[in-house]
Amino acid sequence: MPNSERSDGRRFDREYAVTTQAILFLSDLDPDDVGDAGYHATHYEGVPVADFRALLALVPADAIAKSTFVDVGAGMGRALILASELPFRQVVGVEVSASLYEVARENLETAQCPLRRCNDVRIVRADARMWTYPPGDLVVFLYNPFDASALEIALGAISSRRRNGATWLIYHTPVHREIIESDNRFRIAAEISCGSVYVCDEPPSD
Ligand SMILES: C[S@@+](CC[C@H](N)C(=O)[O-])C[C@H]1O[C@@H](n2cnc3c(N)ncnc32)[C@H](O)[C@@H]1O
Repeated sequence: MPNSERSDGRRFDREYAVTTQAILFLSDLDPDDVGDAGYHATHYEGVPVADFRALLALVPADAIAKSTFVDVGAGMGRALILASELPFRQVVGVEVSASLYEVARENLETAQCPLRRCNDVRIVRADARMWTYPPGDLVVFLYNPFDASALEIALGAISSRRRNGATWLIYHTPVHREIIESDNRFRIAAEISCGSVYVCDEPPSD
């Protein structure tokens, strides 16, 4: 991680009075607890603040106002806190690690966030591959949480949710982008150096 990102992360923690700046491996945190998810997971690292804001700026304002934001692999909750500064209907994080989930829960309770525009912010402890994604329009954020096979399963769960609406996928560090790009329901909407934004405008399925 470049020094500038590390110091931006520390600044974020000071300003919001939280703890999110760390690099941690699930195998060191919860090896017995996360089961098979641990084999497919990347490490924990908070999203670079400027990258998150730049990627979210690529999603149209009317889509944000209609959508639930889902952070797939929410870690310590940095992206959830940043997303709560936008007028989403709801902000939800899914995290498989019990230790990271606990830190995120505490961070969400204590964060100083004067620019908050969404007050319904939650975190659940679950495996994002098997989770039941919320119905309706979604903006799904992935900061490279896992490998290609896990991404494919999670994409299936996202696409088959009840009362399917539009799905925006924001993929930071899109190392397995071929999984999304080979699914012809998704088209690329925008791209910057740190990541890609995809959209699926599929009409409601029920
Ligand atoms: C690179 S971190 C991203 C943290 C957070 N999204 C952020 O941007 O600050 C990836 C996270 O994905 C989580 N993760 C990996 N596999 C997962 C799974 N199957 N279900 C839920 N979370 C998972 C890891 O524990 C880790 O916290």
